[in-house]
Amino acid sequence: MALPFKNHPYLTGHHQPMRFEAHAPDLIVEGDLPADLNGVFYRTGAEPLYDPPEGYHWFDGDGMVYGFYFEDGRVSMRNKWVRTEKFEAELAAGRRLFGVFGDPSTSDPSVHGMRYNTGNTNIILHGGKLLALMEGAPAIEMDPRSLDTRDYLDYGGTITGPFSAHPTVDQFTGEMLSFGWMINGPMGKPEIRYDIIDKTGAVKKNVRFDAPYMSLVHTFLVTENWVVFPFNPLEVSVERAMRGGPLNSWVKGRNSRLALMPRNGDTDQIRWLEMPGRHMFHELNAWEEDGKLIADVAAANGTALFPNDDGTQNTHLDTTLELRRWTIDLTGASDEVTEETINDRDIQFPRPDDRLMTRKTRHGYANLNLNSIDGRVDGMDAVIHFDTDTGKEDIYHFGNGAGCGEFVFAPRMGAKDEADGYAMSLVHPANSHRTELTIFAAKDVAAGPIARVIVPYRIPSGFHCNYYSADMALAAEAFGTAH
Ligand SMILES: [Fe+2]
Repeated sequence: MALPFKNHPYLTGHHQPMRFEAHAPDLIVEGDLPADLNGVFYRTGAEPLYDPPEGYHWFDGDGMVYGFYFEDGRVSMRNKWVRTEKFEAELAAGRRLFGVFGDPSTSDPSVHGMRYNTGNTNIILHGGKLLALMEGAPAIEMDPRSLDTRDYLDYGGTITGPFSAHPTVDQFTGEMLSFGWMINGPMGKPEIRYDIIDKTGAVKKNVRFDAPYMSLVHTFLVTENWVVFPFNPLEVSVERAMRGGPLNSWVKGRNSRLALMPRNGDTDQIRWLEMPGRHMFHELNAWEEDGKLIADVAAANGTALFPNDDGTQNTHLDTTLELRRWTIDLTGASDEVTEETINDRDIQFPRPDDRLMTRKTRHGYANLNLNSIDGRVDGMDAVIHFDTDTGKEDIYHFGNGAGCGEFVFAPRMGAKDEADGYAMSLVHPANSHRTELTIFAAKDVAAGPIARVIVPYRIPSGFHCNYYSADMALAAEAFGTAH
């Protein structure tokens, strides 16, 4: 029997788990559903099956994947948990067995030696496969349509360890570029594994290099010819934890270090660059221009996600993420990383038109905090479209107290140009029992949603979302041309 959950900021309000799987064959749509919107919107997040007795962290809940399928003028929806071995063992036991983040000191002896994995962070298509990703474990393959969990995907035994939740799929080549961190375990040597997987799912590159320390590397930057691995001063230290300190901590005063490497090169070609300590978990995009690498990223000078190493704790509002542009000289003439703030609003997940990742883009999308109380705990209450060429911002506010998710671009069928289509975000309005998948014209967000797909109950806040148009090669491989 499942017991009531504790009172915790990430288990109540917008975050309170619903804990059920559903299928809705034809959802009600308010407004004008665009006829040229055919594809699937996936959203994943943490929806714990059971409450851990000793605490909780937002990143710790079991992965739950929602799929909204747009086809032939209707929208259907399905959601299923990612059936990891953790999930199955806990469901069989009827209670939580793993400690928070798999902490062995608070885990039930029956799961010692079992892999801790929630599969809760990202959900992407590549190589005709739908992958549920959590950076501490290998990718898990799910059925793109039924959302049934299949098995770990280890690429023929090549990639058996941690796999990033933020691989970059380069839609010009079909390649997926990825990495793994903590690949030797939390007490092992800090190494990074860098992988290139071609469009058929074959591993083209699988190399390792030494990380400066056990930095939590959540994403990396990829351009047509280069990759950059950012090492934030956010460190995992079992030694510190054994002294009674936090396992994950921001090390004050430490610089960020960036490993710049030719995308198809060797690890002995890495150039190490430094900049003041930055928290950067999500990039909008990166590209090459006039001998420089340009990266538009959501960055802050610290983080509230974990405590500082001196025992202090930031609030979200002390460490808001803003859109910044990093510029790196590719000629070797300078090792300086320059940084400018493009927009200082409090954003969360910046996204481009994904079809153009690795190449220059000017349109960006993000969810935004306008009037939320203490920022993200209460949810982001607005969405923003940036035009980084003109500096113009294009904002829509869902109202005080609303909680909205990642704002992703969705091309119209047949679109060729950047930002030709729509942008969508899953929203839980304030004081409402329903959820709306809101659809905007991609270049006129301020005009408000042109359509709202209605789910007649609250879907808890989640993490990453992705939209795949039915005419994208990525989607066609998974669904066929008409799904
Ligand atoms: Fe992320």
